[in-house]
Amino acid sequence: MTVNDILFTPVKVGDMQLKHRIALAPLTRSRSPKEVANSINAEYYAQRATDGGLLISEGTTCAATAIGYPDVPAILTAEQAAGWKLSTDAVHAKGGYIYAQLWHVGRASKPEFQPGGKKPVSASDIALEGKEAPRALSVEEIEEIVGEYKLSAQRSREAGFDGVEIHGAHGYLIDQFLQASSNVRTDAYGAGSIENRARFLFKVLDAVLSELPASKVAIRLSPYLDIQGAHSPDAKELFTYVLTRLATYNLSYVHLTEPTWGAWQTGPLHSESRLNDFKGLLKEPTKLILTGGYTHESATIAIKEGRADVIGIGRAFITNPDYVDRIRNGLELTPYGDPKGFYGGGRENYTSYKTYAEIQKEKKKTEIKEQPGAGAVPATHL
Ligand SMILES: Cc1cc2nc3c(=O)[nH]c(=O)nc-3n(C[C@H](O)[C@H](O)[C@H](O)COP(=O)(O)O)c2cc1C
Repeated sequence: MTVNDILFTPVKVGDMQLKHRIALAPLTRSRSPKEVANSINAEYYAQRATDGGLLISEGTTCAATAIGYPDVPAILTAEQAAGWKLSTDAVHAKGGYIYAQLWHVGRASKPEFQPGGKKPVSASDIALEGKEAPRALSVEEIEEIVGEYKLSAQRSREAGFDGVEIHGAHGYLIDQFLQASSNVRTDAYGAGSIENRARFLFKVLDAVLSELPASKVAIRLSPYLDIQGAHSPDAKELFTYVLTRLATYNLSYVHLTEPTWGAWQTGPLHSESRLNDFKGLLKEPTKLILTGGYTHESATIAIKEGRADVIGIGRAFITNPDYVDRIRNGLELTPYGDPKGFYGGGRENYTSYKTYAEIQKEKKKTEIKEQPGAGAVPATHL
């Protein structure tokens, strides 16, 4: 086996028998008007689906107060679940798997997205730079939101998802509870202790697990990724505690985003990543997905060195619908440098990206057209 083949070895993740180690990372694309996933979204996911490959959906709104950006699909009602079913069916038809990412943005929202135009909610009333100060959730409201996570897990099952990934990363609501910079509560959900700051996360997890088996539940976290004002002086102890506890749940996978690599910043080599602090905390059957700035080469090395079981790919999967095939066959990638169309719009810069084979076909056509005499009407037809 060559080193490159390692990305194309099978691995069991939860109930899924994956045939390769490349997953589509969750990517918000803001193309679901009225908060309902639609047939264009299904086309987008189907384009990226592969036999035995895992796709993670874009963050999907999992509570009335959860939304923070336009045209994000939700997963709270039967209609919204039916909208998502178009995508899950399309992915399954290609032999692929798809998890729903359950997302509550907390203080990253704006009153315009909130029921009754109220202030966004968070662990505490500390504002995110450039945004209105949120209001701190009461214990009763926390319980309501936990109930909405449970409902979303139920809807995800109805929608045909293979599992759910709880979005606990990137300075959104769960991270706002976890991190000292955004949680100054004095009750059982804060008061400085790591155990208290993690209470919301584990309540959410327990609620989701009351709907789905652990083999269909995953969580995404971003230790050390200082983003959207979420950071803690005790980050190493915090995430050591969280991951050690998560290891007892037999979850499908834990998904960590690299601390500085990724969509926003660049950083040290993956082999020197600070995520290595947590190496060995998780155990079978829970698998580890790492995402952020990975290439064919660095993904191969991470799997080979046992730093990850599966690698998530974000931006490169936007511009390369056939990313997996291009990696498998060593084909050139379409660059993703231009973020135009990342968020919002229609088919353009969404389902419009071509596969390698389509690009070659077009090139051939252009070459034929450009040949001298090409396009001239044959004399016999005059
Ligand atoms: C357009 C865009 C949308 C994203 N949306 C989400 C999201 O909904 N949920 C999430 O957890 N991360 C989201 N991310 C982060 C990606 O999942 C990924 O961690 C990041 O792009 C780094 O991976 P990459 O270097 O392979 O692109 C988004 C990133 C981009 C570029």
